[in-house]
Amino acid sequence: MKQCELTCFAKQLSSSPFRNRFRQGKLHRVIINILFLLSIASFVILLGTFINYHVRKFLISEEDYSYLPPLHQLSPPPPPPPPWSHYSYVLCNFAFSSSSSSSSSSSSTSLHPTFNSSQLNSHWTAPDLEDAWHSMTDEELMWRASMVPNIVKYPYTRKTKVAFMFLSRGKLPLAPLWEKFFQGHKGLFSIYIHTSPEFIDEATGNSVFYKRRIPSKPVEWGMATMIDAERRLLANALLDFSNERFVLLSETCIPLFNFTTIYNYLVNSNQSFIGSFDDPRFTGRGRYNKHMWPTVSLEEWRKGSQWFEVNRKLAVEIVSDGKYYPVFKEHCNPPCYMDEHYFPTLVNIISPGLNSNRSITWVDWSRGGSHPTTYVRNDVSVALLNQIRQGFNCTYKGGVTSICFLFGRKFHPSTLHPLLGIAPALLGFDGQ
Ligand SMILES: *[C@@H]1O[C@H](CO)[C@@H](O)[C@H](O)[C@H]1NC(C)=O
Ligand SMILES: *[C@@H]1O[C@H](CO)[C@@H](O)[C@H](O)[C@H]1NC(C)=O
Ligand SMILES: *[C@@H]1O[C@H](CO)[C@@H](O)[C@H](O)[C@H]1NC(C)=O
Ligand SMILES: *[C@@H]1O[C@H](CO)[C@@H](O)[C@H](O)[C@H]1NC(C)=O
Ligand SMILES: *[C@@H]1O[C@H](CO)[C@@H](O)[C@H](O)[C@H]1NC(C)=O
Repeated sequence: MKQCELTCFAKQLSSSPFRNRFRQGKLHRVIINILFLLSIASFVILLGTFINYHVRKFLISEEDYSYLPPLHQLSPPPPPPPPWSHYSYVLCNFAFSSSSSSSSSSSSTSLHPTFNSSQLNSHWTAPDLEDAWHSMTDEELMWRASMVPNIVKYPYTRKTKVAFMFLSRGKLPLAPLWEKFFQGHKGLFSIYIHTSPEFIDEATGNSVFYKRRIPSKPVEWGMATMIDAERRLLANALLDFSNERFVLLSETCIPLFNFTTIYNYLVNSNQSFIGSFDDPRFTGRGRYNKHMWPTVSLEEWRKGSQWFEVNRKLAVEIVSDGKYYPVFKEHCNPPCYMDEHYFPTLVNIISPGLNSNRSITWVDWSRGGSHPTTYVRNDVSVALLNQIRQGFNCTYKGGVTSICFLFGRKFHPSTLHPLLGIAPALLGFDGQ
């Protein structure tokens, strides 16, 4: 605009009647010089505007990042800006003598919430979070749980924990056995319980199950709502950054070893324990729906027990899965059961090398039928437990071990009493 005005002015001048009168004079040259200087000045102003706009964008976005309190806490002070940007900033301020300097970083400190490091620790690791309840929606929860720190080293002493996730209709009838199992191991485990929403009983204050219920929704066995509940459990457990291994258990499960043995077995393994096999029969491949192609192929299709154990990396992938879950939800309907196929197939596709392909939760199918054996009071004996504890061979950490199952199901509530009688001595519960 300015340039145009100047040019037009010059044209007017050169075509005006003055022209003849001053043609030979000095005035003409002076005007030419002034016009030249004015053009240069307007060019500098335009350049200044351009640089000022870009430098401001750069400065403002960098400041936005520093509003994230945790990052601000953990990161070293920002490096000085490179010399050129300093120069540009000075230049544009010079060219414009403007009001834009108000966005400089000096004003930002008062806007930071003041975090101190003990709050920071409890915020991210939740060791003091006594109550598993919260008000997040599933969508908010999954998003929050899917976050992975990019810095490998933890800024606090991280004690690896195992998350025990109970998927139950109501109360846990075998809770007294679990209480003995956990006794003396505070800080090495966390408990999460998903129940029917209408179940609101609370354990007593000195119980390990006190305030460990998570916000739950109705579950239909064998349907997608069951997978939703399992993902909800995983997501809640992921909120605690100290949880490294995640075991899914039912109310009929019992531990087959003491805490120390189970903890070491899981923490020292780099594999997850999800039963996953290719069943060529109608009860396996027969449940594959060809509409799942090409997201899931028949060759990738797997079957396995729903009672999984996964490490943190896989747990994050499971709660983040937006690709396979919708396909299963739409196309895996009875006689296809999502709880027998979704996790085994998913892990086979996304990280086959990191799964042992076997479950660590034992169940007895030997009596035939479509349901496994439920053990009642008179079935419980040292011989039965030892048979499950030592009667198998399997691979573990590249070798062979006789410890293949860490948990057993299905134990009826009536087994509690005999179990309390023999388990502490047999399994070697600490402090007994
Ligand atoms: C940090 O926050 C915790 C919990 O709010 C508080 O107890 C502690 O006194 C604070 N420490 C400092 C140094 O401000
Ligand atoms: C588990 O199965 C997958 C795919 O079938 C295979 O790649 C992997 O080697 C198996 N893992 C073990 C430990 O056998
Ligand atoms: C497990 O392996 C041991 C040693 O190789 C063998 O003696 C035992 O019979 C095996 N047990 C089973 C159930 O195969
Ligand atoms: C897992 O551990 C086994 C034995 O401890 C080792 O041979 C294998 O390379 C490890 N795998 C990964 C992916 O770290
Ligand atoms: C826990 O079990 C292991 C073997 O299963 C045993 O060696 C250990 O002594 C037991 N711990 C206690 C405290 O009894």
